[in-house]
Amino acid sequence: MKKTIFSGIQPSGRLNVGNYIGAISQWVEMQKEYDCIFSVVDYHAITVKQDPEELRKRIIEVTKIYLAAGIDPKKSIIFQQSAVPAHTELAWIFNCYGAYIADLNKMTQFKDKAGKDREAVSVGLYDYPVLMAADILMYDTDIVPVGEDQKQHVELARDIARRFNNEFGNIFKVPEAVVRQEGARIMSLLEPTKKMSKSDANQNNCVGLLDDIEIAKKKIMRAVTDTEANIAYDPIKRPGISNLLTIYSVISNKPISDLVKDYQGKGYGDFKKDLAEVVAKFLSDFQKKYNSFSDQEVMVILESGRKKVEKMANGKMEKVRRAIGVR
Ligand code: AMP
Ligand code: TRP
Repeated sequence: MKKTIFSGIQPSGRLNVGNYIGAISQWVEMQKEYDCIFSVVDYHAITVKQDPEELRKRIIEVTKIYLAAGIDPKKSIIFQQSAVPAHTELAWIFNCYGAYIADLNKMTQFKDKAGKDREAVSVGLYDYPVLMAADILMYDTDIVPVGEDQKQHVELARDIARRFNNEFGNIFKVPEAVVRQEGARIMSLLEPTKKMSKSDANQNNCVGLLDDIEIAKKKIMRAVTDTEANIAYDPIKRPGISNLLTIYSVISNKPISDLVKDYQGKGYGDFKKDLAEVVAKFLSDFQKKYNSFSDQEVMVILESGRKKVEKMANGKMEKVRRAIGVR
């Protein structure tokens, strides 16, 4: 039996090269070997306030980004999370069986996102890892390809699966997170000690996948490096240049060690100019593909995905409902 892959991205904010490198580029590779399910996780997006018109647009936008990156709807399933209500139903059941307050209190993403005002954020933001566990466990997922920041959430999904199985018998498969060796955590361009994030207030920190090409080049040219003169890879001591090397390496498909060799004796100026060109070419090809999909096509793909996963989800939910005694 082929292994099952599940992953998703929230339609909030503008997707950037961090999302592409950390998550989507891995998915594209995996669909060659595995049965893949990729979701546009809109019920995760509403854990913080979203403008309804904007959200509707972003759902289509994220789907087109999956397609432009090379997710092939003939091979892989693409669907919108809210179109399959079983996800929220299962999340509720896990709220009662499997997830504990103590687990959620440990989640670093919640602590970061809630900031100082922890009592004033929505219950949804706090509970979000439980909905993510429901997404993953619904489909007997073996592997969850994500960026580094999501590993802790996948760990929780594993705990929930084990606890539920201990109480009710073998209903859920225990999944595993897979994180890229290089590029699991692309850093911000101006503050390379923090993650490149699509919710960053300063968009000069990110190269957006749909950024204007000239603006994207400027962002690369302005990226923070350090006061050393040479091009070298050392993420701890020299996070800025190391981050740019990682981006360069993944996008051009060249090992970092080769790039370091190529740039011996050259300075940051030359390196950044070349990287800006590499990024520009990548974005221009990407955007051409992105623009080739109509909204109508996207709706058809999402609907066909919904039909496929709904059957699987309903089968799993019937087992769960019986196990806990509501059927
Ligand atoms: P998010 O932007 O939080 O919705 O993340 C969507 C996916 O992209 C998840 O798998 C993240 O782990 C991944 N991701 C987000 N930001 C980065 C980043 N800066 N570097 C690598 N992966 C990332
Ligand atoms: N929480 C993830 C993020 O912000 C998105 C997500 C939701 C997800 N459900 C998932 C990722 C299931 C992998 C598997 O990036």
